[in-house]
Amino acid sequence: EVLIAQDPAEAAKRAADAVLDGLRRVDGHRLVLGLATGSSPLGLYAELAAAVARGDVDFSETLGFALDEYIGIAPDREQSYRQTLLNDVCKVIGLPEANLNVPDGMGAARAEIAAAAAAYDAKIAAVGGIDVQILGIGTNGHVGFNEPGSSLASRTRIMRLANQTREDNARFFAGIGHVPTHCVTQGLGTLREARRLVLIATGAAKAEAVAAAIEGPLTASCPASVLQLHPDVVICLDEAAASGL
Ligand code: GLP
Repeated sequence: EVLIAQDPAEAAKRAADAVLDGLRRVDGHRLVLGLATGSSPLGLYAELAAAVARGDVDFSETLGFALDEYIGIAPDREQSYRQTLLNDVCKVIGLPEANLNVPDGMGAARAEIAAAAAAYDAKIAAVGGIDVQILGIGTNGHVGFNEPGSSLASRTRIMRLANQTREDNARFFAGIGHVPTHCVTQGLGTLREARRLVLIATGAAKAEAVAAAIEGPLTASCPASVLQLHPDVVICLDEAAASGL
């Protein structure tokens, strides 16, 4: 389902509705919400906070799973995705810090990080899978940090960041030289197992990636095209992000 809203505020509202709708279908078990960093979903999180304030939903028992984390950025540093999610999401929607799970990018050796990545997938499976996964999209079509070339069946793993991604994210660091070169990300196969995917993209800079993901071929060159395989995806765009469709 592709929803084209007039502006980013409306796209955020519709994305929040899609998240809440997906969570309402959960019967019995504890809610499990997949969380994305980035500026795209901030309006969506604000809408979820408004829903909490209205008493429509409560995230105090919800488990959160992050999509990705940088390698080599300690979890208490501002630029880590753990801190970003704590500040931008947990505090905003009332999801307790103890319920937030983030891939571990601080292992001393590559094998240690890889083992922690496999354990992360196992933890998602152990809680019964993710009910709703929130997604943004990179200008190069990445989802999570699955860069072009990622296997459509990939699991949570170490990934080298594309130059374009490092440039896009340099604004959060003291220059491109400080942006990590590697990360741990849920794989495309992993995030595809969520029961519902809700992707939000706004602004003209995302138009090309959005068009490739929705109307282009299913290809590892555009990792977000893997969404075409999912039976329950809601893509919320503003006019600018939809301008390439
Ligand atoms: C980041 C994150 C993605 C995010 C994307 C877009 O690098 N790993 O999960 O969707 O890039 O970010 P933004 O929403 O700020 O444009």
